[in-house]
Amino acid sequence: MTEQRPTGNEGTKRFYDQVGWLKQEGQTVDFHLFGMREDGPIRMALHEVHLQRVRSALSRAGKRISLLECGCGGNPARDLFDLCCDYTGVDFSETGLDLARDQLKCAAIPCDVRQADVCALPFDDGRFDAIYSAHMLYHIPEAAGQRAALHEMLRVLRPGGVLVLITANPRPLLFPIRLLKRLVADTPAIGRMADIVRRAPPIPYRVMPLGWVRQQVGPYGSFGLMIHSLPSAAFNRYVTEYRGIGKHLWRLIRWLDLSLPCAAAHLGCYVQITLVKSVIGGSHRLRQGGVPEGG
Ligand SMILES: C[S@@+](CC[C@H](N)C(=O)[O-])C[C@H]1O[C@@H](n2cnc3c(N)ncnc32)[C@H](O)[C@@H]1O
Repeated sequence: MTEQRPTGNEGTKRFYDQVGWLKQEGQTVDFHLFGMREDGPIRMALHEVHLQRVRSALSRAGKRISLLECGCGGNPARDLFDLCCDYTGVDFSETGLDLARDQLKCAAIPCDVRQADVCALPFDDGRFDAIYSAHMLYHIPEAAGQRAALHEMLRVLRPGGVLVLITANPRPLLFPIRLLKRLVADTPAIGRMADIVRRAPPIPYRVMPLGWVRQQVGPYGSFGLMIHSLPSAAFNRYVTEYRGIGKHLWRLIRWLDLSLPCAAAHLGCYVQITLVKSVIGGSHRLRQGGVPEGG
């Protein structure tokens, strides 16, 4: 029997409801699949740098922000709570939201979690000062769905507010195996053949070109691109920074990340996109459903 490939947003929701946010040996399956396993000093220092980059981008929206996290799942961004006057987390996985609710019980700020599809957010225009979304966008398998999600996030963001997205780079030039896989997947005929022979991924995954993302959100404000993490999740988990070639590779990664963060965005696997929404209305006005007015 051939394996059924998940399709549509339903495939992502099903994965996270039935597998991704379940606990195994004290950790979620999501963590076992994608989390950082070995904690060496370079990794930990870079983790802190990446968090500070997100915090400093969000701080551009003000001192105490009303924050929306899209695709929080069972891992709400508690490291950002000291910047917030209130926090709202959205996800369509009820299993993930149950985990999130447990973690938010003792939060020092008002917190709300809502089950919703990011492609149709249940909030008024301009409701939030800032929006954060990590590793969510590329799990929406259709370009039309990703476009709707981006436009919805921009609709509920107030003018002058800040959107921070952590997403994947489709052309990670420093990681040849991953780059090759992406090139194959993006070449229609070869990609279809590769789909027949390789194991289906556990979860829908579609990485849109960064230029496409820029086209979608760029007209709404000032767009910035920066490296978020050079290595892939697998590199992070399996390559030790204590010995062998790994020691040198991790030093190179640290140097690139700290010295050339904007150039490194085009070399590595994950990027931070920051958009400060324009204060001027005009063509930037959106209506619910994520479609620009007149578009
Ligand atoms: C890889 S997890 C990331 C969780 C968390 N942001 C983190 O960085 O650890 C992706 C999450 O996005 C959610 N998600 C994906 N597409 C979504 C959509 N269209 N609407 C709402 N949630 C979505 C999934 O249910 C899942 O909880």
